[in-house]
Amino acid sequence: MTFWNGKRVLVTGGASFIGSHLVDKLVTLGAQVRVADDLSSGRLENLHESLKSIELHQGDLRDRDFTRTAMMGSEVVFHLAACHGGRGFIDTHPADCASNLVLDGMVIDQAWRSGVERVCFASSACVYPVGLQAAPVAGKTTYLKEEWANPFKEGCAHSDGEYGWAKLMGEMTLQAYYKQYGLKSVSCRLFTAYGERENETHAVIALIAKAFVRMDPYEIWGDGQQDRNFTYVGDIVDGMIRAAECVEDASAVNIGTAEHIKIIDAVRLIFDLTGFTAKALSFDTTKPVGVYSRAADLTRTRERLDWEPGTSFAEGLERTIRWYYSTRNLEKVSAQLGVLLTER
Ligand SMILES: NC(=O)c1ccc[n+]([C@@H]2O[C@H](COP(=O)([O-])OP(=O)(O)OC[C@H]3O[C@@H](n4cnc5c(N)ncnc54)[C@H](O)[C@@H]3O)[C@@H](O)[C@H]2O)c1
Repeated sequence: MTFWNGKRVLVTGGASFIGSHLVDKLVTLGAQVRVADDLSSGRLENLHESLKSIELHQGDLRDRDFTRTAMMGSEVVFHLAACHGGRGFIDTHPADCASNLVLDGMVIDQAWRSGVERVCFASSACVYPVGLQAAPVAGKTTYLKEEWANPFKEGCAHSDGEYGWAKLMGEMTLQAYYKQYGLKSVSCRLFTAYGERENETHAVIALIAKAFVRMDPYEIWGDGQQDRNFTYVGDIVDGMIRAAECVEDASAVNIGTAEHIKIIDAVRLIFDLTGFTAKALSFDTTKPVGVYSRAADLTRTRERLDWEPGTSFAEGLERTIRWYYSTRNLEKVSAQLGVLLTER
């Protein structure tokens, strides 16, 4: 008998890339899953494995009546709905990202009013102060610790754009509801997820798509030296489930790897795994790349969850490439690539 057996669970944004993997996992753990999603970026096809076993509510979670109905009877809420995309999207859609303030406020308030037992929030590494994520000095890399992003501590609130600020305010709202009403919750700071079902606005899928269409010269956004701790979606989902089981006091925990992988090294690995190697690389430094260097410190994650991500980048990348190449049409991707990189 697991924690999840028979549990009534609502997954907001459950038709999304990460949300749909979470739904699949919760169904296998025996939970009774309901999904609420407006399908603005989520897709029904993402839910093909679980659609028969779940209840689907399609609508806008900024609407109180819809949210109240969707939440009715739920014991646990995984809140993943958000207006969000990769760097190409969030840097060009600031007003859309700011609208997450309304969405998060509505979902959290309604969770409390509906008597939900606990909330697990998909926060983001974008809550961390951007100044901590500059290029490493003398090779000294930084691992982001949870206490470094805190709206109540001077110098600890300088999030990454409207998207990051909205996530930080979502975390703050959950802490406020815990302090005032005792609503149990955890904020999972997800770091640069990749894997099957992700779209091309995110770096790994964008780079795979460019190899798929055999782009040559092969374009890389930025100078290629920027790094991320790419984290496989299966690990993201396991970490969120573990966090929901273990943390009740509205704390934040990092869910991501402690590995800095340079974009240029990811490109080399993609060339190795796909068998396509471009004759020339072109670096476009006018394109959005976000912060220069980002990886997680896992001290709190290990302590509170007794868990850490286990999938190597090579293994996760191989699975992702296999999925992309077996589900995409060459002519379609070639014709639409410009749009796919910036519109979710
Ligand atoms: N992908 C990443 O690397 C990453 C990193 C950090 C955090 N996150 C967070 O994880 C969550 C899932 O992200 P994702 O990358 O899987 O895909 P995503 O951003 O496409 O997921 C968002 C989901 O929310 C739904 N949605 C948006 N607005 C809504 C509204 N008003 N009402 C109802 N549903 C709405 C969309 O249709 C979609 O299914 C998001 O909250 C995102 O901010 C993702």
